[in-house]
Amino acid sequence: KTSQVLSDGTKISDLIYPETREVQMRVLSDPEIYQMEMEKIFGKTWVLLGHESEIPNANDFMVRDIGGDSVIVTRDKQNEIHVTLNVCPHRGMRVALTDCGNTQIHKCIYHGWAFRPNGDFIGSPVKRECMHGTMLPESELGLKKARSVLYGGLIFATWNIEGPSFDDFLGDAKWYYDILFQRTDKGMEVLGPPQRFMVNANWKTAGEQSAADGFHTLTLHRWLGEVGNYAKKGGAETDDDEPDLTPEMYGVEVSSPHGHALRCIDLARKIRRLTGLEPDDLSVQEKLNALPPAGMTKEMVDQLAGNLSEDQLKVLTSMPPQVGGMFPNILFGFVYIPQPDGSVVGSMTLHTYIPRGPNQLEFCNWIFAEKDAPEELREKMLKQTIQLFGTSGMVEQDDSDTWPHMTLSAKGAMGRHMTLKYQAVYETGKPEGWPGPGIVNEGFTKDDTQWHWWLYWNELMNAE
Ligand code: FES
Ligand code: FE
Repeated sequence: KTSQVLSDGTKISDLIYPETREVQMRVLSDPEIYQMEMEKIFGKTWVLLGHESEIPNANDFMVRDIGGDSVIVTRDKQNEIHVTLNVCPHRGMRVALTDCGNTQIHKCIYHGWAFRPNGDFIGSPVKRECMHGTMLPESELGLKKARSVLYGGLIFATWNIEGPSFDDFLGDAKWYYDILFQRTDKGMEVLGPPQRFMVNANWKTAGEQSAADGFHTLTLHRWLGEVGNYAKKGGAETDDDEPDLTPEMYGVEVSSPHGHALRCIDLARKIRRLTGLEPDDLSVQEKLNALPPAGMTKEMVDQLAGNLSEDQLKVLTSMPPQVGGMFPNILFGFVYIPQPDGSVVGSMTLHTYIPRGPNQLEFCNWIFAEKDAPEELREKMLKQTIQLFGTSGMVEQDDSDTWPHMTLSAKGAMGRHMTLKYQAVYETGKPEGWPGPGIVNEGFTKDDTQWHWWLYWNELMNAE
């Protein structure tokens, strides 16, 4: 490991102050740092590109991004998923020009070089000698291939061909992600194409918040409690007459040396309200029947035991992972949304914050359901998720209002020397009997998980 140096002589590692847990704000707007991130972070880590249900048929394809690089994600006739760089190796023209489609031949419009869905070179319209001579073998004329993996149907890819496996990258956090993405027999599918919109903010403002910033719920999203209070007569969220989000602060926060983070939020209040009983007196099965996991019905819960361990089921029925991130730019939400009639509707959503320059990100929002969820539930989930998250969602309009301001702040002559502070550490420790792995702390009003996000950012930025 060495410390990477910027052109003005500043070392990247000098922008992070481990003793006081601060990060210089310059990192949120500096074009040179941004360029370095494209290589050292997005060029090295596993990046989420979408879900296999978006390209269900042979020869389907979609165009996505790994950092600043456009990539083509395809399904071939053998049902294999491939990810290739969307750059023609001839002169660099973009090969796929639409967002998605179906074709067995990807042909470059410039001089007509053609490629298979797996990226292999097929040929060019005129004689071989004329188009590409004999200097390079055909095996070197294909599209550049990324290494890809399917996880719960989610498509991840990396340019780091020899790097860590996807499982190693997830580390201890996988135990928790499996509770969400690997829990049913048939798995998940998308409810339509993702919502996509631009935000004038550096990708890290959203990325670090996704590393499980629970604290801001009490302030930025305070209205959630207030609305809950008004809806109370219909049987919704709050227990008393005061707007109160503090129960949402009970739970367990998990983070990892690879910057992944998640919040496991206590379901006790919801179960109490639904059953009138103390959750501690209920068995796992009784809890599952009273409140099936977000996005599932009572009829579906029998599948869980075959896919998850007893300990995972314990966590799923008491404090399931509901909001969190995956390094570098992913947010997941598997949340329980109280309805005016007292019932609960789940929402399953994933976002990526695609970097589009130092001052811009593209917010990409996928909405999911389990494949065997009944139609009525899928409709409710889609409606609830659109109302709360993504482009038009009430909650995430709050969040995406803050990111541009932080980015602008980081451009000021003074502002860029200010620091982001991650000092709210309570070191609350693992609750007794908590069965899951990882760096585990009780409660959400602290900054550990995001600090770990920055430490991994620093590690990658300084890696050779
Ligand atoms: Fe693609 Fe020439 S740039 S064929
Ligand atoms: Fe938020």
